[in-house]
Amino acid sequence: MTDQYAVIGNPIGHTKSPLIHGVFAETTKQDMAYSAIEGPLEPEGAFAEVVRAFCVSGGKGMNVTAPFKLEAFAMADERSERASLAGAANALKFDDGRIVAENFDGIGLVRDIEVNLGVSLEGKRVLILGAGGAARGALLPFLAARPAEFVIVNRNTTKADALIKDAGASGSVLACAYGDLETMGRFDLVVNATSASLTGNLPPLPPTVFSPGSTAYELVYGKRLTPFLRLARNAGVRGIADGVGMLVEQAAEAFAWWRGARPQTRAVIDRLTVPLD
Ligand code: ATR
Repeated sequence: MTDQYAVIGNPIGHTKSPLIHGVFAETTKQDMAYSAIEGPLEPEGAFAEVVRAFCVSGGKGMNVTAPFKLEAFAMADERSERASLAGAANALKFDDGRIVAENFDGIGLVRDIEVNLGVSLEGKRVLILGAGGAARGALLPFLAARPAEFVIVNRNTTKADALIKDAGASGSVLACAYGDLETMGRFDLVVNATSASLTGNLPPLPPTVFSPGSTAYELVYGKRLTPFLRLARNAGVRGIADGVGMLVEQAAEAFAWWRGARPQTRAVIDRLTVPLD
């Protein structure tokens, strides 16, 4: 019987996941179907019921997107370390009725930067903007890439401090306020993990964090030159990217976790890429 998978979110109309997993299934010759489900926002508990019903009907796994990543994490029977630090799941696997939670967002991001963009992070200075769910999911995969220095900047610095403490990180990892960045020099990689671009806003980032050889990475995808990427471009940065590669790479990680086969990603990334300008 064809194995069933789905992505669940609300809204879900613009999801690229069925397309991505459809191509992966075809190229790796897996007998599986992948659909999109609009999850219920209310009443309380309705989301978990839909997930359980999918699992009981023979579903093998799900991707989870906004606004359900926290609920998906909370309802799981088992959670990876990455998902636990993020407090959020973007992928679920159903294993004999048990729900296992994972979070591949950060791993997908780091893989896109290191493998697809060819930017090795070892020994580099990395700056991440934001200390919300997206930054939480990215922290452990970033630290595994062994940067020389890893700085988390957030308007609310208490939140950034808490993230570092929760990760048990020390040494070269530090939190700061936007104003502190003026005197902290240039970074090799600057990642915008705030939700500011979704509303066309720009975090109060001084352009002194950039040099022409920096890479500026925007987690949001398909929005062309966001205010953050424009700031980087105006500062002379040559390497700018949005999160389309991260989207496809996290999907590939979930696919490999579910199916035991790792798909090629290049062709799908090219297909989904919207030129930045
Ligand atoms: P997500 O899951 O997308 O990370 P979130 O958990 O709500 O969403 O976190 C949003 C992040 O974007 C936070 O770090 C937030 O900063 P604060 O914690 O200081 O509020 C950040 N953010 C949102 N809008 C921003 C803006 N205009 N400038 C700077 N940071 C912004």
